[in-house]
Amino acid sequence: MGRIAYVNGRYVPHGMAQVHIEDRGFQFADSVYEVIAVQGGHLIDGDEHLDRLERSLRELTITSPMSHRSLKLVIRELLRQNRITYGSIYMQVSRGQADRDFPFPEGLKPTLVMTAKRLKPFDYKLLYNGVKVVSIADIRWKRCDIKTVSLLAGAMGKTFAKKQGAFEAWQIDAQGFVTEGTASNAWIVNSDGTLITRALGADILGGITRKAILKLAHKEGLKYVERAFTLEEAKAAQEAFTSSSTMFIRPVVQIDDSKIGTGEPGEFCLKVIKLYGDYMEQQT
Ligand code: PDD
Repeated sequence: MGRIAYVNGRYVPHGMAQVHIEDRGFQFADSVYEVIAVQGGHLIDGDEHLDRLERSLRELTITSPMSHRSLKLVIRELLRQNRITYGSIYMQVSRGQADRDFPFPEGLKPTLVMTAKRLKPFDYKLLYNGVKVVSIADIRWKRCDIKTVSLLAGAMGKTFAKKQGAFEAWQIDAQGFVTEGTASNAWIVNSDGTLITRALGADILGGITRKAILKLAHKEGLKYVERAFTLEEAKAAQEAFTSSSTMFIRPVVQIDDSKIGTGEPGEFCLKVIKLYGDYMEQQT
């Protein structure tokens, strides 16, 4: 059986799924999205993702295509039709279709597209492997808190990283501070064992995995602080890691040419991976 996608009320073969060339998502990146991990047939932090989708839509005054309850029904059906128990759901909502013109007309019918992807189940062993990141200038717009499909800067950055044999690129703002990865949030652990990640603001996406990690750190009584850190501070850190719904938590053992800590995944990070693995398990 081939892959099935959902487009505006229909379940269609993936290869035949299409939206109009005048869709504002295509013309202007006038569109927002979410990616949700699926473990054991369950959405990980599904409500959090749907709440963030709602916020992105609201910030851009795009009409919500349907209620959370209905979105969840579509997700369930898509997972069922694709026979997926481990993987991810991708959903995109654009403002809709209109003749190309910068100002958008009122009352457009939003376009809703969903796809499901099969992935391997969460595997601690895989996550225990350290990865390399490279630093790049953050050239994105000033509303990175909205999860728009305007991802060209990230796509260029991650391609650059891949060509350097790196797993991710961490973006650096004009003042030399790390904002976040191209598709993940950035974390370091300093020499006194404090977990550090940039505070929420318009310059980063409020990651759902980030939120869960902070919640777990709080519950476990781990030391943490939400503040910006420079690239130099990151290179001198004891440990580093990067987090997202699709890659979960990956220990960072090298940034550019600098080895982080011992050059092996550190204790703090391994603990966070374990906590996050258990946290996901509880939702299945
Ligand atoms: N990206 N920062 C950026 C710029 C991101 O694109 C993502 C996620 C994150 C992590 O957010 P979360 O923990 O909610 O997944 C941070 C998704 C996975 C993507 O674009 O595929």
